[in-house]
Amino acid sequence: MGDGSTTGGSVSVIQLPRFLTARSCGETIAVCQAIQDEESDVVIDAARLRFVDPFGLTLLGATFQELQGWGQRVVVHRVSADVGSYLQRMDLFRGVDLQGFTPAGQRWDRRDSLVELTCIDDHTAASDAAGRLANALIGAVPGIDLNEEPDDMSGQTEATRLGSPIKYVLSELLENALTHARRAGYKGARVWIAGQYYQRNDLFRLAVTDNGCGFLGTLRDHPDLRRKTHREAILTAMKPRVSCNRDLGIRTDTVNEGVGLTTVLRIARAADGRALIASGDAYHNPATAGGSLPVGTFWQGVSVALELRRIKLETIRIGRLLPTLEDMPRVPIRFE
Ligand SMILES: Nc1ncnc2c1ncn2[C@@H]1O[C@H](COP(=O)(O)OP(=O)(O)OP(=O)(O)O)[C@@H](O)[C@H]1O
Ligand SMILES: [Mg+2]
Repeated sequence: MGDGSTTGGSVSVIQLPRFLTARSCGETIAVCQAIQDEESDVVIDAARLRFVDPFGLTLLGATFQELQGWGQRVVVHRVSADVGSYLQRMDLFRGVDLQGFTPAGQRWDRRDSLVELTCIDDHTAASDAAGRLANALIGAVPGIDLNEEPDDMSGQTEATRLGSPIKYVLSELLENALTHARRAGYKGARVWIAGQYYQRNDLFRLAVTDNGCGFLGTLRDHPDLRRKTHREAILTAMKPRVSCNRDLGIRTDTVNEGVGLTTVLRIARAADGRALIASGDAYHNPATAGGSLPVGTFWQGVSVALELRRIKLETIRIGRLLPTLEDMPRVPIRFE
């Protein structure tokens, strides 16, 4: 990782980088991995940290919880007042020993534009979470009235038009994380979600991260997987109608049809947004074609980060983006 160093005693001090974001996914995953690799208490130096997006938040949240699960103490020090207030508001520091930090007052208390980091480990909690998070995100958009009367013709409101693609995305990703991620020996896998509406850019950022078996874990024996690498597994999972359960046959409901992830990515593209999928030692960003993480860097599980532009989101009709039965390409799809 390069930034980790050891002080005179036996406790390691790990420095956080300036950005913990999807755009700096290699560095973000590397530092989380370095923290998880520690076998005793960890001191984290957050002096350089300037910006954390939902992707960074879910990865760091999963990382802290992992250590706490092992009984290791996590100490964070030298976090700036602004970043610290934000992270505290997003609930990142639960159970973390935060040292030398004075909140910056009201400045970061933007209660309505944030969706806290949430960890979900059972299906009953998941069914509510997608709707609750979508409403919280939409409620942050200026001028949106969650109690608006629905339009007589369409039965829709501005909030439901914006909300349905967000709900779809969150529930598909959550469903994947609570079923597929728990295969191949990862029964206890959990999922972390976070989201935020950014008024300045008029866009939503969402992230869903699990600590399960990863795409390669579920697709290792899939006939479409040409090479047993994490990168190929990500690309294979993105293809329409690829599912680790496809041997059960095509069903009439949406369960295990292999369309969820494809549709999530189509929604991101239709919303003029970006997407990033990381798993194992690889990531894929449809805009740049992605690639490998820095050598030795690894995320055990799957993390999906999305950016959705509000103005485009309103025009999305999910039914039009769902893959059709004929939609079964034999080559990896490219989104660029
Ligand atoms: N979080 C995850 N962890 C491990 N594997 C995953 C994860 N998410 C998706 N996958 C793999 O990618 C495949 C494709 O996912 P996708 O959501 O498109 O289809 P599905 O979940 O099988 O079916 P559907 O979404 O239509 O119900 C899954 O069948 C599974 O093999
Ligand atoms: Mg799915």
